[in-house]
Amino acid sequence: MNMSYIDKLYDLEGKVAVVIGGTGELCSRMAIGLAKAGVEVVLAGRNEDKAEVRLDMIHASSDDCGAGEKAYFVATDLMAKGSLYALLDIVLERSGRIDILINGAGVNSSKSVFDVPADEFQTILDINLTSTFQACQVFGQYFIEHNIPASIINVGSIAGLDPMTNAFAYSASKAALLNLTKNLASEWADNDIRVNSLVPGFFPSEDNRRALDEARMLEILRKTPMSRFGDPDELIGATLLLASAKAGSFITGSEIVIDGGFNAVSV
Ligand SMILES: NC(=O)c1ccc[n+]([C@@H]2O[C@H](COP(=O)([O-])OP(=O)(O)OC[C@H]3O[C@@H](n4cnc5c(N)ncnc54)[C@H](O)[C@@H]3O)[C@@H](O)[C@H]2O)c1
Repeated sequence: MNMSYIDKLYDLEGKVAVVIGGTGELCSRMAIGLAKAGVEVVLAGRNEDKAEVRLDMIHASSDDCGAGEKAYFVATDLMAKGSLYALLDIVLERSGRIDILINGAGVNSSKSVFDVPADEFQTILDINLTSTFQACQVFGQYFIEHNIPASIINVGSIAGLDPMTNAFAYSASKAALLNLTKNLASEWADNDIRVNSLVPGFFPSEDNRRALDEARMLEILRKTPMSRFGDPDELIGATLLLASAKAGSFITGSEIVIDGGFNAVSV
């Protein structure tokens, strides 16, 4: 295999990625993949303790290109637009550029329909959908004003394709996120800003362990043709494809579903 061809196709060396929700389980692993590909990664989120653990992982994964060592964390309140502008300013000052934005913050709550209070429903929509829209506004405006070709990756969920029982706000927010992604992709195609969704199926995480009991886990495995959950590292290939200006050059408004075939079959 001609590796230099692959290297050129997926060349991400020297790029800078802001990973919102990067302190979480899935996005931190995506961040490691980006760092190994030579990307300077900025984790943005609210939890400094978690961030330290994730940064240690990214620093430890640093290889010859040394990008992992440069990773850092910026405490960010996603719900406040001012905090997103501050994030943008800090990254520009420290890293000098931004090429990739990943919107990966997300929350879920598993409750039967009459038990979901309106404020909880709204909070989930705010975190999963509105905060992503705000981040796209803040970073998108910067990309456009400075003529920067960029890649925005919004982390959806297969619950946004077909809803997940007892996850009403979550499913609705992720469905809306897929729609929003397509709309922004169309809006910014002329500006060379690609906007896509990465759509994970079921990956073991704290949230899942809270939301899914054993019977539900078994049901999911039964419906998954590959008969297993995903490993977060299995999100890295698609992340690099969408992030790469060359390999992903004609991909915008798309969804890449990574679910072991869960969504491929109906029965
Ligand atoms: N784990 C799965 O199986 C799975 C499946 C489909 C989609 N997803 C999506 O992938 C993304 C990452 O999920 P994960 O499993 O890694 O979960 P996680 O809980 O480990 O990560 C979620 C991240 O969102 C951040 N976050 C939540 N609310 C926030 C707020 N108000 N302000 C700032 N940050 C906030 C958390 O701090 C955390 O870093 C989410 O969008 C989730 O919906 C996960």
